[in-house]
Amino acid sequence: MSIAIENPLSPAHPEDPNGRTPFVLDPVAQDALFRSARTARAWDPRPVSDEHLAAVYELLRWGPTAMNTSPLRLVRVATPGARERLAIHLFDGNRERVRTAPLTLVIAADAEFHTHLDTLVPHMPDAAGMFADADGRVAVSRDNTFLQAGYLITALRASGLDVGPMGIADPAGLDADLLAGTSWRSLMIVNAGWPAEDDGAFPRAPRLEPEVAIRTV
Ligand SMILES: Cc1cc2nc3c(=O)[nH]c(=O)nc-3n(C[C@H](O)[C@H](O)[C@H](O)COP(=O)(O)O)c2cc1C
Repeated sequence: MSIAIENPLSPAHPEDPNGRTPFVLDPVAQDALFRSARTARAWDPRPVSDEHLAAVYELLRWGPTAMNTSPLRLVRVATPGARERLAIHLFDGNRERVRTAPLTLVIAADAEFHTHLDTLVPHMPDAAGMFADADGRVAVSRDNTFLQAGYLITALRASGLDVGPMGIADPAGLDADLLAGTSWRSLMIVNAGWPAEDDGAFPRAPRLEPEVAIRTV
């Protein structure tokens, strides 16, 4: 049996019930985005330009969010001084990574995302009124920012970069420092760039089988 028949994501299976021009990402690109893409933890010094980051944002912003709320915000931490201020709020083992990664981003959720809904939801005149409750807004902003962080990771990989997401030890401390005076609340760090030749990667951990992760009812 050929791979084209075994693999429903193969371009040889371009059936589209809506009659649109069939499109399936080729398997090499699928590998680059998912199967072969590893989390990177050590970096080549080659820089990532502002234009490169802007092109990545241009991709990620089209991913779906609840009501198109789009609450993800990014802080590019670039100067050595800002990197040190960030490092203070991270777990010990993560600090050197933000000192050396070509691109270091704080992923933040905008707790005041509703102030942009005139732009984002123009077809619903009082969309912002649905988010009057501050606690509810924080929950929506966090959920949808994590979702957009997934789009960010995929967009960075689609642009040829390796990615290293990391948690934050003291997000409140980080918010009071690098994000002071804003409604942005930090959720995670994403490093990106080209990986060091020896990035110390350990063998890849398995993932769950579809029988475990997918249930049909
Ligand atoms: C939200 C999030 C937080 C993470 N936090 C850390 C971290 O603090 N330190 C670290 O070394 N890796 C961290 N990782 C990386 C994961 O451990 C890694 O992506 C996962 O084990 C899969 O590895 P692989 O992509 O090489 O298969 C984090 C990943 C995500 C998505």
